[in-house]
This record gives sequence, structure tokens and C-alpha cells, in this order.
Amino acid sequence: MLKGRIALVTGAGSGIGEAIAKRLADEGAKVWVTDRDGGAAHRVAEAIRSGGGQAHCLKVDVTRREDLESACDAVYAEDGRVDIVVANAGVSTMRPFLDLTDEDWDFNFAVNAKGVFYTLQTFARRMKDQPPMPSSELRGKLIATASMAARQAAPLLAHYSASKFAVLGLVQAAAKELAPHRITVNAVNPGFVKTAMQDREVAWEAELRGLTPEEVIADYIRQTPLGRLERPEDVAGVVAFLAGPDADFITGEAIEVNGGAWIF
Ligand SMILES: NC(=O)c1ccc[n+]([C@@H]2O[C@H](COP(=O)([O-])OP(=O)(O)OC[C@H]3O[C@@H](n4cnc5c(N)ncnc54)[C@H](O)[C@@H]3O)[C@@H](O)[C@H]2O)c1
Repeated sequence: MLKGRIALVTGAGSGIGEAIAKRLADEGAKVWVTDRDGGAAHRVAEAIRSGGGQAHCLKVDVTRREDLESACDAVYAEDGRVDIVVANAGVSTMRPFLDLTDEDWDFNFAVNAKGVFYTLQTFARRMKDQPPMPSSELRGKLIATASMAARQAAPLLAHYSASKFAVLGLVQAAAKELAPHRITVNAVNPGFVKTAMQDREVAWEAELRGLTPEEVIADYIRQTPLGRLERPEDVAGVVAFLAGPDADFITGEAIEVNGGAWIF
């Protein structure tokens, strides 16, 4: 479905980003695997190559505009274009609202909101001047990993939720401004996904709510009508759909991928 396409994914060294990079490669794209953790990006790119796919890796911290500009230069120098950019890198901390610190706020906003802004803007500026993708009327596709928390705030996550609400505002405005350039901008909103981020959150939440980690996980599953924790691959499949030709007339949209945990 994505044969011949060039893709770049941020935060692709683990979890949801790793699954997205692998899925886009499985669909035939050549994938630039990027992460703040250069070793993790290298490991994922190696895994893609050893499975017969095409991948490069780069160390990119999305809080650093210069890292994104260097990555963009590297991709255009090698491939001359990029068709799909997934702004996936994100972080979280958990804190009761009354105890929330400047550090919590700034850390979450630097990566989740400003990092997505830097990523989408850096690549959109180059994408708008490239010819349309082969056999497409579009020049490129931008996709952000937001969150169920971008729709429905949760206790202990005021700062994280606010940073993810920001992502959807950015996606909607960018979609309207970039449509004349034939660039689409969309988001996916995962639910309770089993990743390293979730492992950290389960430990924090257990301590803050006076529960065991097993009780916290049971509560996540109880809140999910489809009755299990979400897998990174559940998200990756929807990103592949948005990256593919069947989604060419979708822009400014955020697709819920959460097993029914938030239906509106
Ligand atoms: N796990 C969930 O339940 C869940 C739910 C909704 C949304 N999300 C979102 O999905 C995305 C991926 O989360 P995950 O669960 O895979 O997390 P994760 O912690 O497992 O992986 C995140 C990756 O991003 C990288 N990263 C962190 N800061 C970075 C930075 N400044 N620059 C570049 N890379 C950076 C990390 O090194 C790591 O490899 C995030 O945006 C997160 O907010 C996760």
C-alpha cells in the first residue's frame, strides 16, 4: 500500500512509535526511524532491515528545532522528498493538580505540544515545494499521535491532557492552512496502550491512588468496553490507514483508537 513512499516517525525507538515504523515498513515504505534515544532508533531500524524492510535511523530530540531541521536536511539529501511524517514522540508525568509543578507543565508541553509543532512545521515547509506523491494528488501527509486525553481529561494528568488538547488544535489549524498545498494533517488518539509509558504511569498511579499496579491495570481494562489493554499495533494499523491512499480525502481529523474507552 505504501510502496515507494518515504516516511519519518519521531519517538520511534519504542512503544507506539516503534510499531508505527515497523508497520509503515511492512506496507512498503522506506522509514526514517528517529528518537531522542539514538540507540533505540538504531535497534528498530536494524529490526526493520533484518526483516527485509528499508530503514534509516537518526537521533532526533523533538524539543530541539535544530535536530528536526538536520533530520529534514538528511532526508531530502538522501531521498529528495518525504511523503509521510508521524509526530509521535511524547512523554507524561502524573501529579495531583494542586501539586503540579512548573517542571511537569514545561516538560509535557515541550515534547507533546511544542515538539509536535516543530515536527509538523519543519517538514511542512519542505513538503509544500515538492511535487505530488507518485499517483496521488497530495504532496504529503502529516500525522500526530495525540491521546484519548486530548478528548477527555483524567485526574492526575491535567498538564498532559492540556498538552494533548493543544495537539488537536494544532492539527485542525494546520489542516486548514496546508490543504491548499495538498498536504493533509490528521491525528490518532490512543487509549490505554501497553508500552513503557504505561508501565511508568501504572507505578505512579498505584502510589498516588493507594492501589496495587494490578488494580490500576484492571481499572484500565474495566474502562475499555472491548475488554483488554490496547496494543501498539492497534494504533499502528490506523496510522497506516491515514498514511495510505484510502485516507486521501481525510484532513483535520483525529481518530479514536481506544477499544471504546471514550465514545462521543
Ligand atoms: N501508552 C499509552 O497508553 C498512550 C496513550 C495515548 C497516547 N500515547 C502517546 O503515544 C506516543 C507514544 O507513547 P508510548 O506509549 O509509545 O511511549 P514510550 O515512552 O513507550 O515511547 C516514547 C518514545 O519517545 C521517545 N521520546 C521521548 N521524548 C522524546 C523527545 N523529546 N524527542 C524524541 N523522542 C522522544 C522515547 O525515547 C521513546 O522511545 C506519545 O505521544 C504518547 O503521549 C500513549
